[in-house]
Amino acid sequence: MSPLQRFIQKHLRPYLWGTLGGGLVLALGSSLQALSIGLLSLVFDRQLGLNNIASPVKPLKAFALRFAESLPLPHSEPGDFSLWLLPLALLTIFVLRAIFLYLGSLWVARSGLRAVRDIRERLFDRVLIQDPVFFQRHPVGELMNRVLGDVNAIQQLASNQTSDFIKQVATALSTLVAIFLVDWHMPLVVLLLFPLVYFPIRLISAKIRSRGRENQKSADRLLARLKEVLSNMRVVKVFAREQYESMRFKSQGEELYRINMKMVRSQLLAPPMMEIVGGLLLALLVIYGGVRIREGVLSGGDFIGLLLLIYALYDPIRHLTKMYAEVQVSQVALERIFNLYDLEPTIQGPTQPKPVPVTPILIEFDQVCFAYEQGQPVIEGVSLKIQKGEIVAFVGPSGGGKSTLVNLLPRLFDPLEGRVLIDGTDIKEFDPKELRSRIGVVTQETLLFMDTIHDNIAYGLNVSRAEVMEAARRAHAHDFIAQLPQGYETRLAETGSSLSGGQRQRIAIARALLQNPPVLILDEATSALDTESESIVQQALDELIKERTTLVIAHRLSTIQRANRIYVISRGRLIEQGTHESLLAAQGEYARLHSFSVL
Ligand SMILES: Nc1ncnc2c1ncn2[C@@H]1O[C@H](COP(=O)(O)OP(=O)(O)O)[C@@H](O)[C@H]1O
Ligand SMILES: [Mg+2]
Repeated sequence: MSPLQRFIQKHLRPYLWGTLGGGLVLALGSSLQALSIGLLSLVFDRQLGLNNIASPVKPLKAFALRFAESLPLPHSEPGDFSLWLLPLALLTIFVLRAIFLYLGSLWVARSGLRAVRDIRERLFDRVLIQDPVFFQRHPVGELMNRVLGDVNAIQQLASNQTSDFIKQVATALSTLVAIFLVDWHMPLVVLLLFPLVYFPIRLISAKIRSRGRENQKSADRLLARLKEVLSNMRVVKVFAREQYESMRFKSQGEELYRINMKMVRSQLLAPPMMEIVGGLLLALLVIYGGVRIREGVLSGGDFIGLLLLIYALYDPIRHLTKMYAEVQVSQVALERIFNLYDLEPTIQGPTQPKPVPVTPILIEFDQVCFAYEQGQPVIEGVSLKIQKGEIVAFVGPSGGGKSTLVNLLPRLFDPLEGRVLIDGTDIKEFDPKELRSRIGVVTQETLLFMDTIHDNIAYGLNVSRAEVMEAARRAHAHDFIAQLPQGYETRLAETGSSLSGGQRQRIAIARALLQNPPVLILDEATSALDTESESIVQQALDELIKERTTLVIAHRLSTIQRANRIYVISRGRLIEQGTHESLLAAQGEYARLHSFSVL
């Protein structure tokens, strides 16, 4: 099934009636054109005296005549051609056509745009359920290009191209019928020319598609770069690297331009090919028409009518071939959309998940091994047990694997070997979402949204202002929030950059307090702060860890000393464990780190 077929069958189907109804109105409107040409033939014959033959009136003209006479327009008797009747009939046809085309296009576009809206929503949901690994592979800019860029590309397809397609096909078919009604030999000639159009177009469309793919990938890269530079603007400024970034952006843009040009070159091949076919068609007609007029079969009006009809036929064919080329680009967008659509997250819950204990008694790492890249182990055979209500600290040199180790608990990654257990159950047997809801995480980077402070603290929970304020108070955030001009309704700028690091951290802590998870992970939550904000954030953290099982990665000695147990992690291994005193007495790695004041 081609992506286009899938789009029509799966996504347009709910709106099929709208599409069909709109299509019908469009087809009606489009067919009126042929009728107007029939009328013109009449005008030529009668008004210019070109009807010099004895043969019967051609069906198209007869039909047009009946139509004109049936209109509620002023005329005295049947067959009367006042100077007014034909022009008025013509005008009526054009007005009707305009109304039909407008309403029909609108109807079709509405169905199409609804289908696109559904796709955009579902695509975003699809992205949301992916694992952290997925987001490492796909930079934000690329994902934006896929959720917005690709979807925009098919928006054209769904709104304009579909109705355009129906319009052109209906015009072509009705014109063909009209030609048949004037002279039945002519459509045969036209059909003979069909392979001349079809095969070359098929050939270039494959090319357009492959270039379209390159094109979108290049656009992904450009957007990824743009996103990266915009979010690291502070670094760009501080290092005064505007020119460097400008150059990098330009070279990426140059690449996109070149691929764009390649694609356009194939795309633009279709119309000139059609010009030649059109010329051929006209030339044939002129020869044929001359013969038929001489034979006395066609009147002058018929002949001019045929010429007009051929023109009218040529236009939609040219349009359709151009469109066929454009649709290839939409096909690429659809292809990319469906690729993302079909992607299942690698971390799956079981079909029948066990309920996660509301307050876990025992967290256990059992011979856990993990690697981001094959052959480069980051965690090697770590085993440890954490009881309910304990505070355990992880220390060790940077890059030793502490963050990686604790991230295995909320299943951001799955261990390659060994198991992580909660109350004796492998965490793979839980629903990952439920598991994560039991684990609160506060890290070094606090991630806030461009929302009010209230919404940032509540973050999707349906809680009252009083509860939010209570959490803020316990997180030592209430005082500074109250001093902001709009208090809890203050909107944060992007990623909360209008607040200081310590303030952001306290909002994150208030959020975690409100979530009230039984298990808490603090990954260097204070290490990015200056001493003053560190101490106040520390107080907030003290409030947060009350009555919870806490895994804390820390540099601060005071935090570490309070821990029930300290694990020293180095090069992915658990090399020492014990209390502050016992580890100092052991004179090992911990004592060494301590003597260097690293702790
Ligand atoms: N997302 C990642 N992809 C690949 N390698 C990573 C990733 N995160 C960390 N690493 C590597 O894994 C090792 C352990 O990192 P990490 O767990 O962050 O250490 P720590 O928290 O102790 O400083 C480091 O060598 C780091 O380069
Ligand atoms: Mg870390």
